[in-house]
Amino acid sequence: MPITPNDQKRLPRVFSGIQPSGHLHIGNYLGALKQWVKVQHDYESFFCIVDLHAITLPQDPQALCAGTREVAALYLAAGIDPQKSTVFVQSHVPAHSELAWILGCLSPLGWLYRMTQYKDKAAKQQAEASSAGLLFYPVLMAADILLYHTNAVPVGEDQRQHVELTRDLAQRFNHIYGEVFTIPEVMIPLAGARIMGLDTPNAKMSKSENSEYHAVFLLDPPDKIRKKIMRSVTDSGSEITFNDDPARAGVNNLLTIYQAFTDESKEAIENRFAGKGYGHLKKAVAEVVVEGLRPLQERYHQLINENGYIDDVLAQGAERAATIANPTLKLVQERIGFLKARGKT
Ligand code: TRP
Repeated sequence: MPITPNDQKRLPRVFSGIQPSGHLHIGNYLGALKQWVKVQHDYESFFCIVDLHAITLPQDPQALCAGTREVAALYLAAGIDPQKSTVFVQSHVPAHSELAWILGCLSPLGWLYRMTQYKDKAAKQQAEASSAGLLFYPVLMAADILLYHTNAVPVGEDQRQHVELTRDLAQRFNHIYGEVFTIPEVMIPLAGARIMGLDTPNAKMSKSENSEYHAVFLLDPPDKIRKKIMRSVTDSGSEITFNDDPARAGVNNLLTIYQAFTDESKEAIENRFAGKGYGHLKKAVAEVVVEGLRPLQERYHQLINENGYIDDVLAQGAERAATIANPTLKLVQERIGFLKARGKT
C-alpha cells in the first residue's frame, strides 16, 4: 500500500529552484539563496537547478551545460549543505517531465493563458513564435513541487501565481483521482530582499537582461562590482533615505542592498549616510558587496576546482530525489489507470 503523503512522520518539506539561464546575481542571493540556507535547518529541503525550465527560452547548449554546474556550485558556496539538503538537476530525475505531462492534461488552457509571467514573456517574442514550453512552464513547476509532497515553496512574489496554480492542479487531481498530493503553501521572503536592476531601479534585477550595468553577478571580480555600483541609476536629489517613491527607487535599492549585506537597521543606515552624497553611498555599498561576496567567491572557486565534486553531489542529489519522486509518480500513474509495464515493480 503506498504511503499517503499526509501521514508520513517527517519534517515539513520545501522545494525551490533557479534556472541555469545566465549568471546568478545578488538579487538571486539575497532574495532566494540566503533564505534557503536558513530554511534548510527547519525543513527537509530540495533545491533544484531547473534546466527543463531554462529551455522554455532559447539557450546556448554550452552555456546551459556550464551554467548548470555553476548554479549548483553557487548553491553550495552560498551555504547550502548537501548533507542536509537535496541538491539536484531537474532533468536528472525524469519523473519531473512525466508528471508534468499528466498534469498538463488536467490543466485548462485558460488557466495557463492567464499567467502574468507567460503574458509578459510571450509579449517579448513574436506572436505565434513563442513556444508551447513557455505556456507549459507553470505545469512543469507544479510537477516539481507536487512530486515531493512539498509543504512550502520559498519563491519571490513574481512566482506566487504559479504556486497558486500548483495548488489548484493538486486539488483538481485529488478531487478526480483521490488524495495523492499535498497542497503546498507559498513562502515569500521578508520585504526588503527584493533587489532591483541597477540601471532599471523600477524593475527587478534579472539574469537575462543584457545591459552591462544591470546586475552584480555573484562571481563578478571586485573591480567590476565597484564599477557597476558606481554607475547605478539614482536621481537628481540628495536625500539618502529608504523610501517608496518610484522616482527615488535607485537610492532605495542601494540602501536595500546595503541593509541586506550588513543586517544593520534602517535607522542606523540612514544615520550613517545623513548629510552625505550619493557618491559616498555608492562607494560604501560597493565595499559591503565586495566584502560580502568574497567568502562565497572563494568557496565557489574551491568547489568548482575540486575535480568531480559538484557532479558527485548532483548524482547523489538526483538519486535521493528520485527515491521520493518516483513513488509519487507511480501512485499517480496507478490512479490515472496506466497499465503497469510487465517486469517493472
Ligand atoms: N519558476 C521559478 C523561478 O523562475 C523556478 C522554479 C521552477 C521553481 N520550478 C520551481 C521555484 C519549483 C519553486 C518551486 O523563479
